[in-house]
Amino acid sequence: MKVLIACEASGTVRRAFEARGHDAWSCDIRPAEDKSNRHIRDDVRNHLEGWDCIIVAHPPCTRLCNSGVRWLHKPPPGRSLDEMWAELEEGAALFSDLWNAKCPRVAVENPVMHKHAKKRIRNYQPFAQSFHPWHFGTDPAGPDNEKKRTCLWLRGLPPLRATGTLDGFSARARVHKMGPGADRGLERSRFFPGIADAMADQWGPLGPPPEFEPEEQFVLPLAA
Ligand SMILES: C[S@@+](CC[C@H](N)C(=O)[O-])C[C@H]1O[C@@H](n2cnc3c(N)ncnc32)[C@H](O)[C@@H]1O
Repeated sequence: MKVLIACEASGTVRRAFEARGHDAWSCDIRPAEDKSNRHIRDDVRNHLEGWDCIIVAHPPCTRLCNSGVRWLHKPPPGRSLDEMWAELEEGAALFSDLWNAKCPRVAVENPVMHKHAKKRIRNYQPFAQSFHPWHFGTDPAGPDNEKKRTCLWLRGLPPLRATGTLDGFSARARVHKMGPGADRGLERSRFFPGIADAMADQWGPLGPPPEFEPEEQFVLPLAA
């Protein structure tokens, strides 16, 4: 299956699909951290055609997420309100292009979104599910045992079934407590291997819907 992982430099989801035999590619304006040759370094909007099966996208959430809505009313030091609203427009435009890509099965990952972002997204629909990484973890000391509410906007894909065995009590809040630093944003947005494995295990076998017509993409029923 041909799978594009949009806005991913870590390779986490790409490797999960690749390991199951899929023709998986990542695309990001940053280089691949694992130096894979199955990575396109470019604006992903130049590469949204030709994916006959699945696009999984992790667009930047900085100006779209609920936790940052305050900056739209009082900008952070050194930034102007105009800049904040311009970045909101840019973020919503990228999310829209990914969500509306001509591909039968699309998953866009982001945190809970504020109302100004929702209003700007073409064909906006509420997220299909939300969970924490620990819902997909099995090792209390492993990388998935984290609290970080993660939402999926899904088109042509069923919600993921949780695969974890943890109870959440020991889950770390590393992402929320991370101190300042040059790599803070990147470290906070690094994806989780347990969720990536669930995506590849549960969505990989689906294949494209046989009768896919791009113009009908918003009336496709979700697979059972
Ligand atoms: C929230 S981070 C997601 C990181 C991802 N979860 C990972 O594990 O690599 C957003 C990513 O989008 C990338 N990005 C921003 N604008 C982009 C664009 N127009 N085309 C491709 N990638 C873009 C950034 O470089 C960043 O890596």
